[in-house]
Amino acid sequence: MTSEKIQRVGVIGAGIMGAGIAEVCARAHVDVLVFEQTRELAAAGRARILRSLDRGVSSGKITEREREQAAWRLRFTSDLGDFADRQLVVEAVVEDEKVKSEILAELDKIVTDPNAVLASNTSSIPIMKLGIATGAPERVIGMHFFNPVPVLPLVELVTTLKTSPTVAERAEAFAADVLGKQVVRSSDRAGFIANALLVPYLLSAIRMVESGFATKEDIDKTMVLGCAHPMGPLALTDLVGLDTVKSIADSMYEEFKEPLYSAPPLLQRMVEAGLVGKKSGAGFYEYADNGRTVKK
Ligand code: 3HC
Repeated sequence: MTSEKIQRVGVIGAGIMGAGIAEVCARAHVDVLVFEQTRELAAAGRARILRSLDRGVSSGKITEREREQAAWRLRFTSDLGDFADRQLVVEAVVEDEKVKSEILAELDKIVTDPNAVLASNTSSIPIMKLGIATGAPERVIGMHFFNPVPVLPLVELVTTLKTSPTVAERAEAFAADVLGKQVVRSSDRAGFIANALLVPYLLSAIRMVESGFATKEDIDKTMVLGCAHPMGPLALTDLVGLDTVKSIADSMYEEFKEPLYSAPPLLQRMVEAGLVGKKSGAGFYEYADNGRTVKK
């Protein structure tokens, strides 16, 4: 069965990941509709995207005109019913299986194209669990982007036992040919490729801090200067969000019962305290409004 080239995309949620996905789609000349629950959240999401586009202009990656055109291609709504004509919808809401399942089930009833791609940007939840919650698991796929989305060139594509090949090909062609991302395919196992490798490393660094093995500064410095990582594991945990790292750890632990995947108490306590990283202004480090580290 042939499918039209994807030109109308929907993004559910304008948090860090949703805003990044919406931005790269708009920069790739695609019409983008973004869902947020309230006007205030939509305004915050738009502001986040505009700040990132400004950064693109100041670093010479895009021109003023491209920035204006990308901003013009972005629309916001608080009504899921507006997504009926979308050919691809990526949900990027909180890392919670129930919330994601409900949204995908709702979208399945609304989006009319039978070959539409209903994608989840989940970091770790097996896609089959989300797909089966809808009436049409053949339309559901994992499209996992990386933070910061405008900078990191990878998308992990996760098909399930039920995803239709047409939907998978359409999603891959969009990520590769339209967005210009590199695509890897992962099995549908909690954590996929990247987080199955990354998250145990982040949790190990947190355990080192917790046990007093080394300071957070020395752990980060070691991995940046000794292993050429762009940032250390504790700074990266702050960037990803401690709540997200904990959710990923929880779903991997649920799937594999592997002790290395269990969230250490320090991570749990920091999440309970609201110290969830850069987005909240503090995690292992403290941040100013512009996201720069201010105090260690
Ligand atoms: N939007 C647009 N551009 C951005 C940006 C953003 N949010 N953040 C950084 N950039 C651009 C900057 O403009 C700059 O461009 P330039 O080189 O042309 O001037 C370039 O990226 C580098 O940025 P900076 O100079 O400000 O800072 P750094 O050199 O320290 O890089 C970083 C910052 C890109 C975040 C880099 O430290 C990095 O790549 N860190 C690792 C991030 C990582 O591992 N992400 C994956 C997390 S796992 C994940 O997302 C999966 C999820 O499921 C958990």
